[in-house]
Amino acid sequence: MKISRYDEIARGVNAPIYEYYARKIKKETAVVEGVCLDVGSSGGYLGLALARITDLEFIFLDVSADALESAKLHIIEDGLQERAKTLLADVHCIPLADGSVNLVISRGSIPFWQEPAKALSEIYRVLTPGGAAYVGGGRGAPEMQALIRQEMARLGIEWPEMPGHTGGSGEGGSGHPPQRDYRAILKQTGIPACKATRGDDGMWIHLWKQI
Ligand SMILES: C[S@@+](CC[C@H](N)C(=O)[O-])C[C@H]1O[C@@H](n2cnc3c(N)ncnc32)[C@H](O)[C@@H]1O
Repeated sequence: MKISRYDEIARGVNAPIYEYYARKIKKETAVVEGVCLDVGSSGGYLGLALARITDLEFIFLDVSADALESAKLHIIEDGLQERAKTLLADVHCIPLADGSVNLVISRGSIPFWQEPAKALSEIYRVLTPGGAAYVGGGRGAPEMQALIRQEMARLGIEWPEMPGHTGGSGEGGSGHPPQRDYRAILKQTGIPACKATRGDDGMWIHLWKQI
C-alpha cells in the first residue's frame, strides 16, 4: 500500500486503534515522562496518540525517509514540534546512547525486522534502568475490529492483512514475513525481564530494564 493511502487510513478510520494501544501502553508500562522512542513509526501514529495522554518527548525512528516525511507533517499538525523529532535509522543499529530512552514502543514493524533478537537487544540497550518497551502489533480489541471492519466496508477500503501478529492461516504467505516464535527469540536475547503474549488484540512483547 502506498504511504499516502496508509497514512489516510491510519489518521482516519484506524485512528481508534492507536488510541487503544496508547492507553494500554500507558496503563501497562506506567512510563509517562522522559523520552519515548517509536520504532518503525511510519507517520508516528502510535506515538502521536500517546503524546496526547502523557508528557513524554518523542523520537520517531524509521528506515523509510518517506514515512518520516509524513511523521514530520503530523508533528506539525498536532503542534508537537517542541516534543517530537524524527530519526532515520535501522532498529538493528539504533544511533542512540545506552540508557537514553525511558520507553520504546512499536506497532506493526517487528515482522519486518530481519534479526528480531538483535533488534530487541538494541531496544534493551537504549532503555534507561526503570524503562520499558512495548513492541508488537494488532488491530485493537475484537469489538473495535468489528466496528472498523464495518466502517472500511462502508468506505470501500479492503481490510488489510496483518502479517506475523495474529493466529490463523495466511501468515507467511502472499509475500508476508513468516510468523515467528517470539518467546524463543526473547530467550536468545537473554533479557532478564520480558514476556511475549498473543491474545485477541494481537501479539505484544513487553520488556523492562530493572533498576
Ligand atoms: C506496517 S508499518 C507500521 C507503521 C506504524 N508503526 C503503524 O503502526 O501504523 C511498518 C514500519 O516499519 C518500518 N521498518 C521496517 N523495518 C524496519 C527496521 N529494520 N528499522 C526501522 N524501521 C523499520 C517500515 O519502514 C514501516 O514504516
